[in-house]
Formats: sequence, C-alpha cells, structure tokens
Amino acid sequence: MVSLATDYCGATFPNPFILPSGIAQNIPEDHLRAEAGGAGGITAKSLTPEPREGNPMPRVIQVRIDGKPLGIMNSVGLKGPGLLKGIPLLKDLIKRSRVPVIVSIFGASISDFQILAEGMTAVKPRILELNLSCPNVSSEFGEPLGMGAKTAGTVVAAVKKIVGKMPVIAKLSPNYPGIGEIARSCEAEGADGIVAINTVGPGMVIDIRKRKPVLGAKSGGVSGSIIKPVAIRCVWDVYEAVKIPIIGMGGVTTVEDAVEMMMAGATLVGVGSATYVKGMTVYSELAEGMTQYLRENKITLSELVGWAHRA
Ligand SMILES: Cc1cc2nc3c(=O)[nH]c(=O)nc-3n(C[C@H](O)[C@H](O)[C@H](O)COP(=O)(O)O)c2cc1C
Repeated sequence: MVSLATDYCGATFPNPFILPSGIAQNIPEDHLRAEAGGAGGITAKSLTPEPREGNPMPRVIQVRIDGKPLGIMNSVGLKGPGLLKGIPLLKDLIKRSRVPVIVSIFGASISDFQILAEGMTAVKPRILELNLSCPNVSSEFGEPLGMGAKTAGTVVAAVKKIVGKMPVIAKLSPNYPGIGEIARSCEAEGADGIVAINTVGPGMVIDIRKRKPVLGAKSGGVSGSIIKPVAIRCVWDVYEAVKIPIIGMGGVTTVEDAVEMMMAGATLVGVGSATYVKGMTVYSELAEGMTQYLRENKITLSELVGWAHRA
C-alpha cells in the first residue's frame, strides 16, 4: 500500500503538499480552502508585530513569457493584521484545521522576532516558521535579516530561547550567495528545519502600452514555474549543507516537478503560485499523481528524498 503520510518536525502531514506562506490572504477562511483542496498542511501568511497596509495595488500579477503564464510577481508587502489581532485569528485557524498548521512570523529586527515569538507561545502552532527572506519590505526595513549567516543564526537562537520545545524552521532567500552556509548557521543555532525558497528577485514587468511598471510598487518577488531551476539548486545546496529536514518550494506545478524537488532533498513540498493557475484542487491532483508515481516506480516517498544526491 502506497502511503503519502509524512512526518516533519514531529507533526504528521497526510500528504507532503502544503500551502506556503502568503498565498492565501484572509485567516482562517482563505487558508482553509487549501485543506479543502487536499493540502497536507497549511502555512499561515507571515505575521508582523504591527498591522500593515501593504503596498499600492496592483500587488499580485501574472507573468507571461512568450504568451504563456509561467510565473507570478507579487509586492504584497506583508499586508496583515499585526500581532494583537493576528493571535485569535491564528488560534481559530489551528482549531478548525484538520491538517498541521505552520505559523510564519516576520520581523525587521531581532527584538521584533522576540516579541512575535512571545505571542506565538499563546498560539502554540505545531511548527513556527521564521521568514528570514521577504524581498518586498527591504526598502522600508533595510536588508532582510536572513541575508547573512550570522544574523540568520542569531534570530534562530533568540527565538528558540523563547519558544522552548516548539519546532522552529527558517525560511531562506535565494537572492543572496551561500544559502547552504546560511542554512548551516541556522542548524547550528538550533533550527529544526529549513524552508527554501522565498521569491526570486525582485523583478519587474513593464506595460509597454502604458509605458510604466505594472505592479503598484514597481517591482516584486518572482514565483511560479519560471523560478523552479533556482529553487531546485537551492534545495540541493541546503541538503548538502545540513541534516535537518527541508520544505522545498518554488515553481512546483506538476507531479514531475514535485518528484524533482524531493530528489533535490525536500521532505515536504510547498505549492503556491500553481494554485493561482490550477485552483486549490492542485493539491489533490498532486497527491493522486504522486500515489501513482510511487506505485509505478515501486519506491516510497522517503526513498525519493535526496535521491539525486546518491545517484
Ligand atoms: C502573493 C504572494 C505572497 C507571498 N507572501 C509571503 C509571505 O507572507 N511570507 C513568506 O514567507 N513567503 C511569501 N511568499 C512566498 C511563497 O511562500 C513561496 O516561497 C514562493 O511563492 C515560491 O513558491 P511558489 O513558486 O510555489 O509560489 C508569497 C508569495 C506570493 C506569490
């Protein structure tokens, strides 16, 4: 019997395909739609200490290359309710979800992360994700904390001290050199897992009729099919660098993409931009396709993880 159930940081996911942070907007309603579509887990959108209005509209656009919808660009800018209003919303999401919920927090400084981590001790998520990699807020906040190995590790250590046994995973950016080194520093400071990757860029699309950038903020993070080779290489580098398990994401749309991501080293696979093209049922489609793939190839999910490194 083929099983898709996957253990990650002490939680059991019914299948390895999860909603990444920020793809769904309202908590809990939009997030629960992923579970209804078959997602094996839900990551909540990144919570910030204060409420944020986000960037000017439009914030999310489709990127067409040679006429084909191959990517998404976003400059959402972490629009959200902030910590005080966010806590009851996240508690509600956790209560109503039947699959594991990962809560994501984003701070501009170590003390921001400490304040958010305190708040999360009341929320008690199965796993806490540190967004060390958001590209859409750097002009306001300075460079993301996760750009350097030392700062990334310092944030992990500070948060671990506050949340005790709660598993902490670090989400890293593809936009700085040495993702493996950054992952290693997070592991050394106690991270229980690594998430790779956040969006690539920032990038820009210009409307040639209006003669100006399409996004309200002009530039934004790139996701979807067009970033998949970058994501695969980053997951590969992280797998080579650390022992802790990886959540791989970036452009996964089909079962073949998911198999490739797992062969690079991912234990769980985030599927975000593909939901904008295929809808939330992409998760059950991937679960069915993966069951068939495992059956045909007579292998298990755990054998797939990191396979390309052993070839
Ligand atoms: C509209 C949008 C909003 C996002 N917001 C967040 C966020 O709040 N926190 C975060 O860590 N990543 C955020 N991301 C990045 C995704 O979680 C994911 O890392 C990235 O989109 C790559 O996966 P994909 O190609 O499957 O979409 C966002 C992505 C999109 C498209």
